[in-house]
Amino acid sequence: KARVRIPYLKELKAQGRKWAMLTAYDMYTAAIFEEAGIPVLLVGDSASNNVYGNESTLTVTVDELIPLVRAVAKATHRPLVIADLPFGSYQASPEQCFHTAVRFMKEAGAHAVKLEGGIEMLPQVRKLATSGIPVMAHIGFTPQYEHQLGGYRIQGRGDEAQRLIDAALALEAAGAFALLIEMVPGDVAAAISRAVSIPTVGIGAGNQCDAQVLVWQDMAGLRTGRLPRFVKRYADMRAVLAAAARDFAADVEAGAFPGQEHTF
Ligand code: KIV
Ligand code: NA
Repeated sequence: KARVRIPYLKELKAQGRKWAMLTAYDMYTAAIFEEAGIPVLLVGDSASNNVYGNESTLTVTVDELIPLVRAVAKATHRPLVIADLPFGSYQASPEQCFHTAVRFMKEAGAHAVKLEGGIEMLPQVRKLATSGIPVMAHIGFTPQYEHQLGGYRIQGRGDEAQRLIDAALALEAAGAFALLIEMVPGDVAAAISRAVSIPTVGIGAGNQCDAQVLVWQDMAGLRTGRLPRFVKRYADMRAVLAAAARDFAADVEAGAFPGQEHTF
């Protein structure tokens, strides 16, 4: 099957067909999600937390993300692979943004990139779009602005709603191929989705977006502790893996593994 491309995603929106996006950071999950028919995979800067064990997404580097993007791109044939530009790798200037995006495409095989920010990122979005680099803009709650926003907070309430809609329209005009909308009231995300002709991908943004994304470890039940309200758990992989590890250890301790059939 051919790789998913940008015009196909616009076509889905025109037809009113919704689609799902997941994060992926390695080859097995990427291949499994492809098998499951997920058309778009995001190598998120959430790898900072979910792969590297950091407290925040802010600390992950381009050099740490590139091998993960390469693994996901190599492991798949069909999904569009989006590389998340990490904090500090694109905000300084359109040129900095361009060079980082090019690294993800040349060194890792990304098909598109994502960056966080509203109208302040228009020059960056324009630079990528005019350079042949598909760019998804991430608006609403933007985790890389966590310290300025004062933590994980819903964005776009009240008077802020119109500002967010205006930003969405400006980002579309600047050439963004899609918008990721995080933690925004459902009616505001719905208004944005109607206002723009590019696909919107929601997370904590209600069900009127054109697509939805979740972090795969959240969706599959690997993450412990209190989950954000917008997460739905579709499996308890943590329990499955823990049971497998326990059974293996018990077999080894009992001398039951390896058996004759595992022995040369
Ligand atoms: O890095 C990430 O996982 C994201 C989410 C919005 C899916 O950006
Ligand atoms: Na991200």
